[in-house]
Amino acid sequence: MNKITYFGHSAFRIVTSNGLNIWIDPWLDNPKAPEKSGQPDADIILVTHAHGDHLGNTAELASASSAEVVAIHEIQQYLLSCGVPNVTGMNIGGTYRTKGLAVTMVMAVHSSSIQDQDMMIYGGEAAGFVVRLEDGLVIYHAGDTALFYDMSLIGELYRPDIAMLPIGDHYVMGPKEAAYAAKLIGAPLIIPMHYGTFPALSGTVDEFVRELEARAPDVSVEALLPGQTLTQQ
Ligand code: NI
Ligand code: MN
Repeated sequence: MNKITYFGHSAFRIVTSNGLNIWIDPWLDNPKAPEKSGQPDADIILVTHAHGDHLGNTAELASASSAEVVAIHEIQQYLLSCGVPNVTGMNIGGTYRTKGLAVTMVMAVHSSSIQDQDMMIYGGEAAGFVVRLEDGLVIYHAGDTALFYDMSLIGELYRPDIAMLPIGDHYVMGPKEAAYAAKLIGAPLIIPMHYGTFPALSGTVDEFVRELEARAPDVSVEALLPGQTLTQQ
């Protein structure tokens, strides 16, 4: 049994059937985050890109838990320079095998930069992740992205069981684009993310479900509330 918990915005924790604690984009201070209960545990932290709402609390979480952070090369170099001890850099198109997982970094159409006080540092490319868990469950977290046609290749190559897609619009796909994305990817289950955190992210689950009924009626939607957990075989 794998347990997927939503922490608001694009932050998820996956506790695998082997008890491995995986975080993706842990912005735990986001306005919709559930109340914290103690110091969270982490074994591996995946960061899709360097914007503050995704890099979020990675440094604190990694330092407190000695988790391994996995991110694109430029973010790796930045985090190492900040003293985060265990950071693995990779790049788009590659698969990194660690702790029984296969972590593939895939493209996203978005920007990426690190805001360090008054400096803006190059953050490499924005990315998404396809993670194959120890028991074979495949999860695609798209990061921040526009709709792009190669999502169909991600679907064909990795056959995700679950896709986490941004639907909030303005900085990322809106509901209509996300419904097209779901169709291209072909995952049976979509978890919407990156909506409602602040007013600009105005896309809603209702609109997304409506668009999906028109484009890909076989796809299910699991709109997790912050703090809610989905259990998946
Ligand atoms: Ni972003
Ligand atoms: Mn974002």
